[in-house]
Amino acid sequence: MISGKTTDGSSRVGFIYGITLQIALPGQSQVPYTARKNIEVSLKNPPHMAQDKRSIDQTPEWKALEQHWQDMCCLHMRELFQKDLNRCERFSLSACGLHLDYSKNLIDAKGMDLLLDLARAAELSRWGDSLLAGDKVNTTEGRAVLHMALRNLGYREYQYEGRDIMPDIRAVLSRMRTFTEDVRSGRWLGYTGQRISDIVSIGIGGSSLGPKMVCEALRPYQWDDLRIHFVSNVDGSHLAQTLRTLNPATTLFVIASKTFTTQETITNAESARDWLLKSLFSEAAVERHFVAVSTNTEAVAEFGINPANMFEFWEWVGGRYSLWSAIGLPIALAIGMESFEELLLGAHDMDEHFVEEPPETNMPIILALLGIWYTNFGQADSYAVIPYDQYLRYLPAFLQQLDMESNGKRVTRDGVPVSYQTGPVVWGEPGTDAQHSFFQLIHQGTRLIPTDFVLPLRSHNPIGSHHDKLVANCLAQAQALMTGRTEEEALHEMRAAKVDEESIEQLLPHRVFPGNRPSNMLVMDKLTPRVLGALIALYEHKIFVQGIVWGVDSFDQWGVELGKQLAGHILQNFKKTACSPGVDCSTASLIRRYHLAITGDDDER
Ligand code: F6P
Repeated sequence: MISGKTTDGSSRVGFIYGITLQIALPGQSQVPYTARKNIEVSLKNPPHMAQDKRSIDQTPEWKALEQHWQDMCCLHMRELFQKDLNRCERFSLSACGLHLDYSKNLIDAKGMDLLLDLARAAELSRWGDSLLAGDKVNTTEGRAVLHMALRNLGYREYQYEGRDIMPDIRAVLSRMRTFTEDVRSGRWLGYTGQRISDIVSIGIGGSSLGPKMVCEALRPYQWDDLRIHFVSNVDGSHLAQTLRTLNPATTLFVIASKTFTTQETITNAESARDWLLKSLFSEAAVERHFVAVSTNTEAVAEFGINPANMFEFWEWVGGRYSLWSAIGLPIALAIGMESFEELLLGAHDMDEHFVEEPPETNMPIILALLGIWYTNFGQADSYAVIPYDQYLRYLPAFLQQLDMESNGKRVTRDGVPVSYQTGPVVWGEPGTDAQHSFFQLIHQGTRLIPTDFVLPLRSHNPIGSHHDKLVANCLAQAQALMTGRTEEEALHEMRAAKVDEESIEQLLPHRVFPGNRPSNMLVMDKLTPRVLGALIALYEHKIFVQGIVWGVDSFDQWGVELGKQLAGHILQNFKKTACSPGVDCSTASLIRRYHLAITGDDDER
């Protein structure tokens, strides 16, 4: 047994290498996850290499779940609540500042057990060990996945190819601290000697969605003196509209790109540089107004950014998991380094929970398995995420990339087409707005749409009765989805309202709500940097667990390549007088239309 102390002097346990690290934080289980499984692990290679190749849907665990769905789907959650007065306590848990009430799911104790069996059959524990050990679990790209190291504010060791990576991580964090303090205090000045008033972060996908979502979520922690803007779309309107009100002399650009080759980002960065030079006239100004976040020093230098103004991260950080790295620089600039570190700490709290907590009380594992329950056994195609907090309005968009780019896969890690559904469609909008747009379909449509409600109990803006109303609406939606309204109840209501019998007959079917529609309620006290970090990490780990069960590589994104490649060819075609042979007639005709629109010249294309 190996033991270790955390920086705060407390102790904890972990599943790294399947070794017991015997220490426990207050309120956390002392039973380490891996030890409970008592599995012999070889970590030289990712577990799939030693695994038998049986598809997960051919396992007895999967079959048992299919049968159990048949047993459950004829029940109504109303009955489950009536039969078990402790249902809410039984199906709720708290961790890292989050409380998850998952009692409004069409699940029982047996179902949860069967789902946990499925996770075991998929060797979740071994994959967890492998992830932590820095094995190349992103098998198709031959990369490790070590974003947990980026927020490792505890004692854990993270190694990559036999090297401790924590010193590099800490060195970049320290550079970020100096830089953000310099900018925020006015020590870092623009080329003409003025203070920076606006940060424009240029990046796309994982190099934008995370920082943008977090900056908005933590707006109450931002300074009014330093405004943050995000430009991602190659549509020139995005950049032009953003720059319209800005002063080049007081604007700092953060060019965020892991590869530093992404078409959208480089195009926007070049146009931003032209905009700057048009008013500051000197190439020397670029040094004071452009910094880069990347893994590609050469391309950064080639672009004209001084590598001294580059913040490094590493190939083992996946784009959509990168907000914890220097990609989070705009966050640190917006809310200050201390709050940024709080965000890291919150994610670290969730990492420790994920690593240490037994599966049956492990929040990411439970969320993941409930998702699998509906996707694979209830045939749900999507799930909705509805934050009841305006500051979390970009959470659904962020989760779309996190989840759909991770688990939107049709073959397993071994390249075998799957015979079951994988990643669902993720969508959502903040409540209460969402109630007045698509909730009709969630309540009375024909599809099963499991819903995650995210609710801070205390507002950053407690004015009048707003927050009471917001919370009441959130709780009511979850309740309505679960209970529905029976024909009898609808009838009773209409009669009480003195509706005439003819109208009742006509309206009755429309006023019935079937209910039995599942939801999770994720509650926090207040939306702080720390709890936000935990919330994001919760979804990251949930997605990891699902990817393991589905047997897919959650860390590659080959699906975005073809479109990028074809856009390159089409761009070439714009320069030619005739389309390249082999272009289909639909695309060729659209190219011709575009050419005509911009030149007025209908040539032979
Ligand atoms: O959309 C594909 C993708 O590779 C994402 O995974 C990534 O977050 C984004 O493009 C941006 O890539 P980069 O940071 O290299 O510019």
